[in-house]
Amino acid sequence: MLTIDLQGKRALIAGVADDAGFGFAIAKALATAGASICVGTWPPALTILQNLLERGKMDASMQLSADRKMSFERIYPLDAGFDSLEDAPQELRENKRYKDRGDFSIRGLAAQLERDFGTPALDIVVHSLANGPEVKKPLLETSRKGYLEAVSVSAYSNIALVRELAPLMRPGGSFLSLTYMASERVIPGYGGGMSSAKAALESDTRTLAYEAGRRFGVRVNTISAGPLASRAASAIGLIERMVQYVKANAPLPRDFEAPDVGHAAAFLSSPLAAGITGTVVYVDNGFHAMGMAVEGPGTVGT
Ligand SMILES: NC(=O)c1ccc[n+]([C@@H]2O[C@H](COP(=O)([O-])OP(=O)(O)OC[C@H]3O[C@@H](n4cnc5c(N)ncnc54)[C@H](O)[C@@H]3O)[C@@H](O)[C@H]2O)c1
Repeated sequence: MLTIDLQGKRALIAGVADDAGFGFAIAKALATAGASICVGTWPPALTILQNLLERGKMDASMQLSADRKMSFERIYPLDAGFDSLEDAPQELRENKRYKDRGDFSIRGLAAQLERDFGTPALDIVVHSLANGPEVKKPLLETSRKGYLEAVSVSAYSNIALVRELAPLMRPGGSFLSLTYMASERVIPGYGGGMSSAKAALESDTRTLAYEAGRRFGVRVNTISAGPLASRAASAIGLIERMVQYVKANAPLPRDFEAPDVGHAAAFLSSPLAAGITGTVVYVDNGFHAMGMAVEGPGTVGT
């Protein structure tokens, strides 16, 4: 039988702070396939995640099967807006959510992984994070600062992750990120330069696949996911409408769920996908293929 076997492999998933988002669903799928899971969590969300875990609030979702439960091998503080600790403003470093977290930068993460596991010790890296402080503003009204912040945290961070972590990867290593169709089609309400950040992320996927493929032998892909009511997406404010719209108009009128992305991510991160790099893979019930809204209920047979 052809199976996704990730036993003996270690994954780092950047952007897990609860059990509602794509990062967690990917962690679960990779763990089910046998990988050990480390996560990188934004310092302002780290205490919340630790509390959820300690108080058993995530026990049910950490269950992989009747007799297997997921555990995180390490939880690292990570603010993907900074390549090195020196880049972080003094005020932020002294903030109570940051000051006892050590080096929370991308370089700090790489150094800590190397101290914990040596080199090479990593097989899979997933970038599942985004932030645009002005996401609720139309692009026309987005400030230069807000736009650059969205692109910095949501797209440049992926370049920095590849640069810093590729040297720690074992042969056949895989990088994966999460993008959204707003990069190529207009999604009213997805503002603040977030659409631009996703376009950059997708373009960079191709260039990084070439550059890091030649230099380190790693693969770089991105999944364009359908809408999901995660914590980040709920903050944008229009997620329920997007979920409904996609359900009504996608080729597959089934519910779109986070494990759909988790399973695709497990495949793309596995040796079965050894020949796949530089791609945008749509996991959205096929919604991206539509050029016209469906009239009436989008049920099978219509
Ligand atoms: N939810 C959707 O509808 C949807 C659709 C397509 C793509 N995506 C993408 O999926 C990815 C995961 O998002 P999600 O929707 O699962 O929500 P989520 O809330 O589970 O994940 C976003 C994560 O980003 C983290 N984050 C924010 N700023 C950060 C920073 N500076 N440094 C480190 N981490 C930071 C948050 O703490 C959070 O854990 C994002 O790239 C998002 O754009 C989401």
